[in-house]
Amino acid sequence: MELKDLRVEYRENPLGLDIKKPRFSWKLVSEEKNVMQTAYRIFVTKEGKTVWDSGEQDSSSSVLIEYNGLELEPRTLYQVQVEVWDYKGNWAIAKGSFETGLLKGTNFSADWITHDFPADETACPVFTKEFKVKKEVEKVRIYATALGVYEITINGKKVGDTYFAPGWTNYHQRIQYQTYQADELLQEKNTMEITVGNGWYKGIFGFTCTPNHYGDRVSVLAEVHITYVDGTMEIVKTDESWNVTTGKIRSSEIYMGETIDSCYKNENFSSVLPMSFDKERIIGQESEPVRITTKLKAKELIVTPKGEKVIDFGQNLTGFVELKLTGKTGQIITIRHAEVLDKDGNFYPETLRQAISIDQFVCNGEEQTFLPHFTFHGFRYIAVEGLEEINLENFTACVLHTQMEETGTFTSSNPLVNQLYSNILWSQRGNFLDIPTDCPQRDERLGWTGDAQVFAGTAAFNMNVASFFTKWLHDLASEQTEEFGVPHVIPNILGNQDGAAAWSDAAVIIPWVIYQTYGDVRVLEEQYESMKGWVDYISAHCGTNGLWQKGFQYGDWLGLDKEEGSTERTGATDKYLVANAFYAYSTNLVSKAAYVLDEHEDGQKYDQLYQKIKKAFNEEYITASGRMVSETQTGCVLALYFDLADVKYRERILKTLEINIANHKNHLTTGFVGTPYLLPALSDNNLHDLAGTLFLKEDYPSWLYAVKKGATTIWERWNSILPNGDFDTSGMNSLNHYAYGSIGEWMYRKLAGINQLEPGYKKISIKPQFIKGITSVEASFNSVYGEIKSAWICRNQKILVDVVIPANTTALLYLPEKENPLEVGSGSYHFEYETETNLERARFSMDSTLKEILDEPVALQILNQYAPEMMNHPMIEFAYQLSISEILATAPGETETLFKMVIDALNRTVITI
Ligand code: BGC
Repeated sequence: MELKDLRVEYRENPLGLDIKKPRFSWKLVSEEKNVMQTAYRIFVTKEGKTVWDSGEQDSSSSVLIEYNGLELEPRTLYQVQVEVWDYKGNWAIAKGSFETGLLKGTNFSADWITHDFPADETACPVFTKEFKVKKEVEKVRIYATALGVYEITINGKKVGDTYFAPGWTNYHQRIQYQTYQADELLQEKNTMEITVGNGWYKGIFGFTCTPNHYGDRVSVLAEVHITYVDGTMEIVKTDESWNVTTGKIRSSEIYMGETIDSCYKNENFSSVLPMSFDKERIIGQESEPVRITTKLKAKELIVTPKGEKVIDFGQNLTGFVELKLTGKTGQIITIRHAEVLDKDGNFYPETLRQAISIDQFVCNGEEQTFLPHFTFHGFRYIAVEGLEEINLENFTACVLHTQMEETGTFTSSNPLVNQLYSNILWSQRGNFLDIPTDCPQRDERLGWTGDAQVFAGTAAFNMNVASFFTKWLHDLASEQTEEFGVPHVIPNILGNQDGAAAWSDAAVIIPWVIYQTYGDVRVLEEQYESMKGWVDYISAHCGTNGLWQKGFQYGDWLGLDKEEGSTERTGATDKYLVANAFYAYSTNLVSKAAYVLDEHEDGQKYDQLYQKIKKAFNEEYITASGRMVSETQTGCVLALYFDLADVKYRERILKTLEINIANHKNHLTTGFVGTPYLLPALSDNNLHDLAGTLFLKEDYPSWLYAVKKGATTIWERWNSILPNGDFDTSGMNSLNHYAYGSIGEWMYRKLAGINQLEPGYKKISIKPQFIKGITSVEASFNSVYGEIKSAWICRNQKILVDVVIPANTTALLYLPEKENPLEVGSGSYHFEYETETNLERARFSMDSTLKEILDEPVALQILNQYAPEMMNHPMIEFAYQLSISEILATAPGETETLFKMVIDALNRTVITI
C-alpha cells in the first residue's frame, strides 16, 4: 500500500495559504483488492516542533480532515506527515508541507500606490523600485495585489507564471493577493517593476462597454520579504519611494485587446501617489491561478475570398497568440480574432459584438517574442495584417484558464460523440477563466449564475472545480442581499436586479454539487446562510397560494418552443412554472444541507416548506387529471426530474413528454433550463432508449448537429449556425458557451454509469446503460479517493466490462443485463459474458428526415444525379422535416429504390469530423 497525493486544501504543498484550519486529504494506492483505511495519524510541525498531532484515529476518513492544532502563524512553513493503516495491518506514510501567507490583509505593511496620469492616458503604468541586496539570500517571498491586473518583473524576469492576478472578485468587499516564490531572482542590484492593466477593476466591461466599474485609477500593493542566510530579514515594499512611468503596453483592455510598442521608452519617472483602499478587504488567493495550460500550433494559412490573411488554429479557444519574429523597427503587426469563418470562407468576427479584440505589436528590429499581458480573446482564427509573408511557425495560440486538475475522461465508439465530449471540455477550459463565464469572446464574459448552475455537474466531472467554485460562491454570498436576492452575474457589475429562477439558484445548487462531488462539508457551512437566504427571498415574494408568480424571469432561456416569429428568448414553458420548480428543488436541497450540518430544526422547516410548495405546484400547474399547464418538454421534465408531480400524475406527464418529443420527430426543444435534465429524466423513467435516440440525432436541433457543422466548442444556441450555413443574427450568438454542454453529466452518469452513492464517492455505483448506436464506452473520474473507471464493450454477442474502484471506497456494480448488483471493495474487475444484444445501429434509416440525409454530401451527390427534378423542386424545403417513410407514402414507387440506395451508401460511409 502506498499513500499518494497528499493535499492541503486540494493543493499540493501550497504556498501562501490563508486558511486558519486547512484540511488534509490523501489517497491510498494498492495492488490488493478491498483496501480500506482503518486508522490515520496526522502530524504538523513547524521547525521540527509539533503544532498538531491528531493522535491515532480509528477512522476510514481520508478526505478533507481539518487541522486542529495551535493557531497558525503568518508566513510560516509547516511540514505535514500522514500515516495510515489498513485493515490488513499495512502501513503507509506521506509527507508534504504548506506555507501560510499573511493570513490577513491588514498584515500588509506596504502602502497602496498609484499615479496621476491624465485621465485619457491609455498606457499601463509601470511602478518601479531599485534596491540592493548585500547578504546571501535564503528565501524570497513576494506578496502582492492590485486594483487592476498586474504583472511583476525583477531584473526583467516575470515573477511567477500566472496571468490576470489578482483575479476577479467582488472588489467592493474582497480582493485577493498572491504569494510568489522568488528565491532565484534577486541579484546584488535589483530593479523591480509592476505593470498594471485596467482589467476588470477599471477596464471597459459589461454589455454597455463602459469603464471604471470599481474605480477610475489602478493601483498596486506589494512587499518583498527577503530572508537572509544569517537569519535576518528585510522587506522592500510599495510606498512613496517608488516611481512610476508609462511603459511599452500602450493600451490594454480585456475586450479590446492590447497594443505593445517595443520601440517606446519613457525615461521620465514621476513620484507615485498614495491611494487608500481598505486592507480588511484583502484575502489570500482562494482558487488556482490562471496560467497558459497548452500551446497550439497554427494549422493552416488561408487567404479568404476577401483577401484577408487568416490563420486557423483548428480549435476554438480562449487565450491569445504568441508571435515570434524579427520585424523592422517600427513595423506594426495587427492581429484580429474570430471564432469562425462565414459560409463564403471570410473572416467573421461578428460573434464578438463590440469586443474588438485586436492585438497590435510594434517591432524594434530585433528577434522578439510578443505576448499580450492583460487581455484574452475567444478565437479559432486570426487575421494578420502588417506582414508581407506569413510563416505559420511564428504563431502559437496560448490557451489560458484557471489551472484546475482535469479529472474526467470519456471516449466511445462514436467519433461524433467523442468530438462532442471534446467540445464540452474546451468550452469549460475557455470559460473557467478565474470566474465561470457565459462566453469568452464577446462584450460580456460575465459570471452568469444560470450558466454556471446548469453546467456545474458536468464541470465537476471534467475538472476539480472545488476551489474555483468555492471562491466564486464566496463572492456570490457577498453580493447577495435580502432586498434583491442573488444577482444574475457574479461579480455583479450590472447593478441591482431582482433574483431570477435557475440563475439565482446557483446559490443553492452549486454548493450541493461541490458537497456531493468532493464530500466537502465546509462549502455547505460557509454557504449555508446564502443558501437559506435565497430560498427565504423567494418565500418573501410568494403570493397567498405559496407560489412565486411575479417579477422578471428568464424562463427556459433560449428554448426553441417559443411561438413562431416571437423574439422572446424565454421559451414556451410558463416562466413561473419554471420558477416554482426551482423554488421547490432549492428548498429541498437546503433542507438536506441543514441535516448534513446538524441543523435539524432548519432541516424540518425547509422540508415542510418543500412539501407545501410541491402541493401548491400540483394544484396550480397540473390539472386534476394530470395534464400539465405547459405541455412542453421542459415543463414535463422539471415536474418529473425534480419529483414535483404527484405519483398519480407521473405516467401521464411522461406520456405527454414522449408525445411531445415524437411530435418533434425525436428532437429536443429545450433551452438552458430543460436541457440538463431532459435525457436524465428520460433515462430515469424507463425511456433510456429514447434518450439515446435524442442524444445521437445528427440534424438540427441536436448536440451532434453542431459537431457535424464543425463546432469545436459548445454553441450558445442550437441554431448558432443554421443548416444553410447562415448565422443566427439576433445579436447574441456565442460559439463557446458551455450551457448545453451540461449533457456531459448524463454521459458520465448514464452511458459510463459512474455515480456517487455517498458524498465524495466514498460509496460508488457503476451502472452503465447501453444505447443503440454506441458499442463501447470508456470513462474515468479521478475522485478524491482515486481513479474510478468504467469501460464496456458490447459487440459480437459479447459484453466486456472493466471497472476500477479506488482504495478506501466500496461500490455496487450493476453489470448490464445482469440481475443483481455486486457489492465490491477496491480493485480492478473484469467481466466477460454472452449477450443477444446488438448495439450496432445504422446511422441512417427510413426514419431519418430528408434534412438529415441531405446534410450528407454523398446523399446530395446521388440524388442530384438520379433525381435532379426532385432536388430542384421549389417546395423541397417543406419536406425537410419529413421522414423518408413519410415522403415515400406519397411518392412514386421508384423513389423508394433510390432512397434505399442513398441510405445504404450513407451507412457505408465512415464518419469523419
Ligand atoms: C448570456 C447568457 C445568460 C443570459 C441571461 C446572455 O447574454 O450570454 O448565457 O445567462 O444572458 O440573460
